[in-house]
Amino acid sequence: MPGVILKALTKRYGDVGAVDGLSLEIKPGELLALLGPSGCGKTTTLRLVAGFLAPEAGEIWVGDRCLSTPTSVVPPERRRMAMIFQSYALWPHMTVAQNVAYGLRFKPGLSRGDREARAREMLRVVQLAGYEARYPGELSGGQQQRVAVARALVVEPEILLLDEPLSNLDANLREEMRFEIRRLHETFGITTLYVTHDQAEAMVISDRIAVLQAGRVAQAGTADDLYHRPRTRFVAEFIGRTNVVEGVAASRDTVTRGTVRLRVASGELEPGARVVLSIRPHQLRLGAPGDATDATNALRGTVRRTAFLGDTVDYEIAIAGSDLVLRAAAPPTPRFEIGAAVGVRIDPAGCVPLADGD
Ligand SMILES: Nc1ncnc2c1ncn2[C@@H]1O[C@H](COP(=O)(O)OP(=O)(O)O)[C@@H](O)[C@H]1O
Ligand SMILES: [Mg+2]
Repeated sequence: MPGVILKALTKRYGDVGAVDGLSLEIKPGELLALLGPSGCGKTTTLRLVAGFLAPEAGEIWVGDRCLSTPTSVVPPERRRMAMIFQSYALWPHMTVAQNVAYGLRFKPGLSRGDREARAREMLRVVQLAGYEARYPGELSGGQQQRVAVARALVVEPEILLLDEPLSNLDANLREEMRFEIRRLHETFGITTLYVTHDQAEAMVISDRIAVLQAGRVAQAGTADDLYHRPRTRFVAEFIGRTNVVEGVAASRDTVTRGTVRLRVASGELEPGARVVLSIRPHQLRLGAPGDATDATNALRGTVRRTAFLGDTVDYEIAIAGSDLVLRAAAPPTPRFEIGAAVGVRIDPAGCVPLADGD
């Protein structure tokens, strides 16, 4: 199973740099999620990889084959790739079995019987045995998407490309299909590029995530890396919720902002420099105000808002002696009411300096 390497890809539409010097490696057999907000260039990247678009700059390699440069693009049908779209793009006038077998029509050496047998086998894999004779219009959205998945897999592609394949499904089905796609990936091990704007989906499905911002990769890593060690404010805010706290380095491992002093995870700050920290809401430990003197990593504050979410309670805490308002996610007990004075402790490991806080 080959990997895919994107080297400094650029694609513009008029003045819009849809993809802007994007570099990324998808390792052999890996499922990589391309995650980012609407308009950041995810679909354009996928279309470049599939060969529907030519880059203005950069190259695309699959294993040791160079498939795209600005002057030569191997056409989609010769890339050994299969693509799955948000709209399932099934043929409405063909049965489920015919839709799946359709992709095999140009495969040399296969009889009609072979094609039908392979289609039937793949429908069993996606748990649609017994649906062969139905038409797409007689299936639910989730079942139609399973047919689209079977049709993509039956051609035994080297690379699988998916563009927001679950966006049209309702919430419950979407969660079920996440696990289904992960299961199929573990069965077949096909190198996969999976486009989504849904952070939770990317975290459940992928081996690694590349966060895309304005046509470039802001950061790539495992879900754990991106959550615990975000490099930029954009990544910190896109993967989960966070508090962004700006201050000044008082020493190599301490940041101050007014009366607030926070010791941080790493000891590599430059004294005097502006520092931006990401602090996840669950890193704030709330207690009685007496528990926290105004010392390092111990703050006092007042509860401004609360929201009961079942497993946790969300708080907004106005920090005393500063203009900071921090979000905390705490266990349901002890409970703090609006207006209550609280002590807030933050573990230094939870104070993560961002390389790019803008
Ligand atoms: N065919 C097109 N013509 C003009 N602009 C386009 C075209 N396709 C995409 N764009 C623009 O390029 C940017 C990236 O689009 P796209 O790759 O579809 O983003 P995403 O899939 O992340 O939502 C957007 O600003 C979009 O409006
Ligand atoms: Mg898109």
